[in-house]
Amino acid sequence: MSRIVVVSNRTPGKGPVAGGLAVALRKVLSEREGFWFGWSGKLSEQPAREAHFEDVDGMQVAKIDLTRDDHHAYYAGFSNSILWPSFHLRLDLATIESHWYEGYRRVNGQFARALLPLLKPDDIIWVHDYHLIPLASELRALGARNRIGFYLHIPFPTADALYAIPNHGELMRDLSRYDLIGFQANRDVAAFREFAEHQAPSTFGGLNTKHIDFSRTDVEAFPIGSDPNAFAKLAISPAATKMVHRMKRALGEQNLILGVDRLDYSKGLPQRVEAYEKLLANNHRFRRNVHMLQVAPPSRDTIKEYQETSDQLDAICGRVMGEFAEPDWAPLTYVKRAYGQPSLAGLYRLARVGLVTPLRDGMNLVAHEYIGAQNPENPGVLVLSRFAGAAEIFPEALLVNPFDTDETAEALRMALDMNLDERKSRWQSLMSAARTHNVDDWAISFLDRLAPADKDKSSTRDILYLASVA
Ligand code: G6P
Repeated sequence: MSRIVVVSNRTPGKGPVAGGLAVALRKVLSEREGFWFGWSGKLSEQPAREAHFEDVDGMQVAKIDLTRDDHHAYYAGFSNSILWPSFHLRLDLATIESHWYEGYRRVNGQFARALLPLLKPDDIIWVHDYHLIPLASELRALGARNRIGFYLHIPFPTADALYAIPNHGELMRDLSRYDLIGFQANRDVAAFREFAEHQAPSTFGGLNTKHIDFSRTDVEAFPIGSDPNAFAKLAISPAATKMVHRMKRALGEQNLILGVDRLDYSKGLPQRVEAYEKLLANNHRFRRNVHMLQVAPPSRDTIKEYQETSDQLDAICGRVMGEFAEPDWAPLTYVKRAYGQPSLAGLYRLARVGLVTPLRDGMNLVAHEYIGAQNPENPGVLVLSRFAGAAEIFPEALLVNPFDTDETAEALRMALDMNLDERKSRWQSLMSAARTHNVDDWAISFLDRLAPADKDKSSTRDILYLASVA
């Protein structure tokens, strides 16, 4: 059976694994031979030519160092100040410095040159996310004939937002060098098709995108998920229970409204706090009876727009405190720190409302994890943005327009007032959808689609099944 080579900007480290994605890919790599390839997290004086292998809890990880300048242009620059905001339809927050493109391209070339000598002819390569769009082109230019798949973890933009990206034609041509492109949601597939079919000419665009031939590239939605059963177990583990007790002591009878997000402008945090402010302003009865906890670990904080989001959030949380807090009651707690999965699972289980209201999001796994962690006898309510990919999977959540803070405030009121029968019946549908869209099946279905030639041998699904019953 072919080996699997996973490629992503960040590589997994030793110790407990934070996310479901890393767990699932580890599982794939432990059942099928292969390795993970990506940035080491280190900066070097000279560009590294070779990757060095490390054993990370039994998994082989090949890592490469980048120079400070290249890393800046590739990561903070092109990836996170141009692609990220544009793909999230926040052109107002994009910094279009077109020279960053050269650094982005250089790093992708460096990845390809270091990866190529490690490849066998029938290795299946699975590239992850917007940092590495050109990788297949770079590998093919060096002679790689392998099957190469690309998975975009973030939303695909509308055509107009894509046109605002320097060298977008070349990036689309890069996408056409993959055998399979996976998106999170049907809306992303539709946006991609819209671009591929109707391309606008540009005087300075360079490449005429009309001539991009996507006929050899399969494009499909593969909505990612979590491991809801594992979360259900984790939520009653001793570490989670400790967190639940600690919170119960602090909360007393108050209902908890919980948000957990990286501190990113795409997550709609100021709008979310404003919605909570409206809930308290319009419904006197909730004061002293609810508490909002927002967990927001800092992210990409060298980038100005991220610092501004953090400042904005400080300001609005301060305003709500000033308006509603009393000497013996605080309406909200806001922590800019990351917590481990067990503590989060405990918080999710305790929360009467899971508030997941990004302005735009690829999928949003917090929604999946919140559902997984609920107590079946007394589940909480998920308030979910209709602009998260998760909205396609979870129509039984209370779906809101996160830009409309009156609507979100009303959804909060409905969630807090919802009777147990309705909570249970909504949660049962949500949990069944979370189980159907679990992360193991996600990885298997992508790989089975990318490597259909392996079908006559044992499929990835059979191998993983055998491993799990063994
Ligand atoms: C999103 C992206 C990932 C990225 C993660 C954390 O989920 O899709 O590719 O790794 O954010 O962001 P960071 O910039 O810290 O890697």
